[in-house]
Amino acid sequence: MRSIIASIKGYLETDKLAGINEIFVRRTSSQDNYIRHKDRKGLIGIKKAAEACKACPLYKKRTHMVFGSGSPHAGLMFVGEAPGADEDLQGLPFVGRAGQLLTKMIEAIGMRREDVYIANVLKCRPPGNRCPLPDEIEACSHFLLEQIESIHPKVVCCLGKFASQFLLNSATPISALRGRFYEMDDIKVMPTFHPAYLLRNPGDKRLVWEDLKKIRHALRASE
Ligand code: URA
Repeated sequence: MRSIIASIKGYLETDKLAGINEIFVRRTSSQDNYIRHKDRKGLIGIKKAAEACKACPLYKKRTHMVFGSGSPHAGLMFVGEAPGADEDLQGLPFVGRAGQLLTKMIEAIGMRREDVYIANVLKCRPPGNRCPLPDEIEACSHFLLEQIESIHPKVVCCLGKFASQFLLNSATPISALRGRFYEMDDIKVMPTFHPAYLLRNPGDKRLVWEDLKKIRHALRASE
């Protein structure tokens, strides 16, 4: 945050020297939500707020709100799309077939599920596992941003299009985004394919393995 403020200050000083005394800033409403809800309450406080949330209609049909699971001190965080049927029933992220594959991916880099933190962009299940709608992402995503800020992992691995495009604020397809690190403050963000996609396209597991090796290397280098 400090380095962002310093670089904004630098830009403003240059503008001022050029005679520009007024700037217009467009803020997205999900950033507004984030700022409004951000009071550094820690994971327990964020979870309580998510349990009480009625900001979109998905709360009406849920069995459980699926907040996230794992270590609050994790160096590595995985972010998926939204809970499916199994997750909705158990109140835990990635416990179905895609979750079993995610567990294997985590173990492939020598870690356990308890060592990492797992969350989703949406905390409630969209009906019939349909894709998240823009309004739902808008209403819910501040919880994810608060989780990331609270955990402050070294690396966030985005699983699939929705997590990647949301966190990188990009419309680029996941096939073009994946495989390299992006910076979010001092957090490295690696987009890769979603495990549910890999269940349908096992030939692309080798690409995900390349991405996971980069994550393992970055985590080791940061120790
Ligand atoms: N898919 C997701 O994106 N998240 C889950 O928690 C389960 C399946």
